[in-house]
Amino acid sequence: MNFYEYLMQISLVQFCPVLADIDLNSNRIFEYIENIQSDIIVFPELAFSGYFFTDKDELKQYSFTKDHPVLQKLQEYASKLNKIIVSGFAELDSNVVYNSAIAVFPDQSYTRIYRKTHLFYKERDVFAEGNSGFFVINYPDWDIKIGLMICYDWRFPESARTLALKGADIIICPSNLVTEIWHLVMPARSIENKVYLAVANRIGTEKRNEEELFFNGRSAVYSYNGKCIAEADIYNETVISAEIIPHETRNKHFNSINHLFNDRRPDMYY
Ligand code: ACM
Repeated sequence: MNFYEYLMQISLVQFCPVLADIDLNSNRIFEYIENIQSDIIVFPELAFSGYFFTDKDELKQYSFTKDHPVLQKLQEYASKLNKIIVSGFAELDSNVVYNSAIAVFPDQSYTRIYRKTHLFYKERDVFAEGNSGFFVINYPDWDIKIGLMICYDWRFPESARTLALKGADIIICPSNLVTEIWHLVMPARSIENKVYLAVANRIGTEKRNEEELFFNGRSAVYSYNGKCIAEADIYNETVISAEIIPHETRNKHFNSINHLFNDRRPDMYY
């Protein structure tokens, strides 16, 4: 294999869903998928439903069980177009709703759902705490290992560290971020773990009960050395793309002696 056979392209869709309009949002998501050539396409957190739900029963109407036709269609696109597609969605299971992200692979047997571990702000009123744990999907056909986290998971370095220790080459983070400070932190997560990090954020505002949330875009892809290799602006729905070489993250030596993981001292960390 030569260098270029390992290279793949990832696109992040900085999307603006309309709250509680599944048909509109799904159709727009499918249209993006049909028109983006990249190998990996990522949409934000809760891209099909919108974000600011304050009532559990209302949220249930806009959530999907894992065999929902919209997710089946996402799978059909991934298989037909030979793409990996990642998106946030509200997942209904056993009468509770999780803030989840699905990673859909061309070979359906690799498709997995991650349930957000750390719930942010009023999400606690409507979502159940995620119970999937952090996991890495090893997709041998493309020699790529993908870890998922969602938005506020970023505040806990344990999220990215766990994924990196489990072998992730790239951490994909569908988001609905409402602060700016994550821009300071994400490059550090990529450097300390030597992983790519892709944050697909949304734009726009949502208002419920006189409270307005502003989602501040600036979706970004960071290389494994912390360098930002693609970035969107704050206000526009847009697609950004970057090239990645997953296997380049795997040698965790950063000089002839030191190794990011082998030098850890977990017995000193309590
Ligand atoms: C967030 O977790 N949506 C900020």
